[in-house]
Amino acid sequence: MIYIGLVVLKSQEDLDPHHVGSRGLASAPEPRHPPKNIAIVGAGIGGTSAAYFLRQEFGPGVKIDVYESGTVGGRLATEAIDGRDYETGGSIIHPLNLHMKQFVDKLGLSIRAEVPSKMGIFNGKELTFEESDWFIVNFLRMMWNHGFNPLRMHMWVEGLLDKFMRIYQYQQFSYSFSTVERMLHAMNGDEFLALLNQTLEEAMLAHGFSQTFINEIVTPISRVNYGQSVRLHAFVGAIALAGAESGQWAVDGGNKRVCSGLLYHSKAELIPARVSNIALKTRPSKSGTITNFYELNYVGDSGSAHSLYDIVVLATPLHLGLSDISFSGFSPALSSHFPGHYHQTVSTLVHGRLNVSFLDAKRKASDFFVSEISTTDGEKLGISSLSCLDPVHITPGYTRPPASQTAVWKVFSPEPLTEEQLKTLFISREHVSEKRWLAYPSTKHQSVKLRPSSSITASITSVLSSGRRQQWR
Ligand SMILES: Cc1cc2nc3c(=O)[nH]c(=O)nc-3n(C[C@H](O)[C@H](O)[C@H](O)COP(=O)(O)OP(=O)(O)OC[C@H]3O[C@@H](n4cnc5c(N)ncnc54)[C@H](O)[C@@H]3O)c2cc1C
Ligand SMILES: *[C@@H]1O[C@H](CO)[C@@H](O)[C@H](O)[C@H]1NC(C)=O
Ligand SMILES: *[C@@H]1O[C@H](CO)[C@@H](O)[C@H](O)[C@H]1NC(C)=O
Repeated sequence: MIYIGLVVLKSQEDLDPHHVGSRGLASAPEPRHPPKNIAIVGAGIGGTSAAYFLRQEFGPGVKIDVYESGTVGGRLATEAIDGRDYETGGSIIHPLNLHMKQFVDKLGLSIRAEVPSKMGIFNGKELTFEESDWFIVNFLRMMWNHGFNPLRMHMWVEGLLDKFMRIYQYQQFSYSFSTVERMLHAMNGDEFLALLNQTLEEAMLAHGFSQTFINEIVTPISRVNYGQSVRLHAFVGAIALAGAESGQWAVDGGNKRVCSGLLYHSKAELIPARVSNIALKTRPSKSGTITNFYELNYVGDSGSAHSLYDIVVLATPLHLGLSDISFSGFSPALSSHFPGHYHQTVSTLVHGRLNVSFLDAKRKASDFFVSEISTTDGEKLGISSLSCLDPVHITPGYTRPPASQTAVWKVFSPEPLTEEQLKTLFISREHVSEKRWLAYPSTKHQSVKLRPSSSITASITSVLSSGRRQQWR
């Protein structure tokens, strides 16, 4: 589950910082002058859903421009192989992601048909866990190896999600928060904040989970979801665990269709350009007060240009290598890069035949149906996960082939795969494509610093979520 943090630069001095918009509580002040024009930087799910909500909020009168330097969808992206599309970025959505549910309904999209899948855990030598077709077998195996740890983990995560769901109520009443910490505090007192102060491993040990369970089950979940071990901070770790719960889904035809749909529905104008600088300017208004506005400088196909806006929403991470926007005229000064860095996850799609003996020396490939393999820290080849992909649209009669046949596999790894690694993993390769993502914040605990400058409003508007079962495929 990933938050989309939006930084909103507002010029309307009469907007209450904690109650934005006209649908606020009865006591909330109505904005006297609705904005005339709004710029959104980034057409990922964050930017396009912002366009949708802002249109709802301010009606048809406001002009909404969405700037995108890459492709609409951002980290929701697909890749075509042999005439079919496959998800290469964010692929599965949590059942409690009510916004995505609502968008899919509103836009007339549908949920992708489910194909049963089997999960396995690879420790570098062998598969230490392999899901059976029978729920009771899985349950008894888990109980035998880990006692009540799995059940207790489920209850722990459900408890946290329950608190997290409060975000929808706050949003319904148009609350916003000036820092991420305040929002987390509003949802769950000090508990979420405390999770930011410790690693997932520390938090789980403190809750009485066993070290074996953490190494054998929790680590693979955190590796597949964040490419990182249980030393990431416990809040993000808990989000990874939420991704291991059942009921995860995807959008028929590709998750990025939600982004293009929202853009169309919101009647926003898409400007294919890279925003390079945002400058805060002031002008005297008729009533004698000073109003702020923003000058947005951008580079598009026809060169550099600028436009003026009342509100700018930054819907892209401001970390090094991701957006590179400079800010001028702000006091205190706004740095163009947020502290910390993004974790590289390389997503390699291979259309070919898996080398089953790498995973299990004794197994016949025609009997191998495990489709989602996550790894423990003992994995030495340098992969985080390996999964057999289904296309974004499931045609009637589709079944996933056994590993003896050619299929589309997705490998997540921290570094690009070498020829040597590919040779070990695959017996044959018809097509290989690689996408290097700066995927999610590298969340080693303590390196996270969530607080943006006090002059800006960070509000988390939407929650996407993680993997079907153990996996973000
Ligand atoms: C490999 C991978 C797997 C993942 N799996 C899952 C999953 O299974 N489930 C899940 O919930 N989440 C998953 N995620 C995370 C999820 O994809 C992201 O959290 C989400 O898509 C981020 O959306 P966003 O709109 O905040 O940012 P982005 O999608 O990154 O959008 C930002 C956009 O801004 C544009 N931009 C940047 N700078 C500028 C500029 N200066 N001017 C103009 N435009 C600019 C970018 O081109 C980009 O399109 C995964 C991510 C990756 C990379
Ligand atoms: C987190 O750690 C910081 C610094 O060590 C401390 O000031 C703060 O009180 C801690 N917060 C919680 C909720 O434990
Ligand atoms: C498959 O994996 C095994 C075990 O790791 C390895 O010895 C072999 O070289 C790999 N490649 C092929 C083509 O079998």
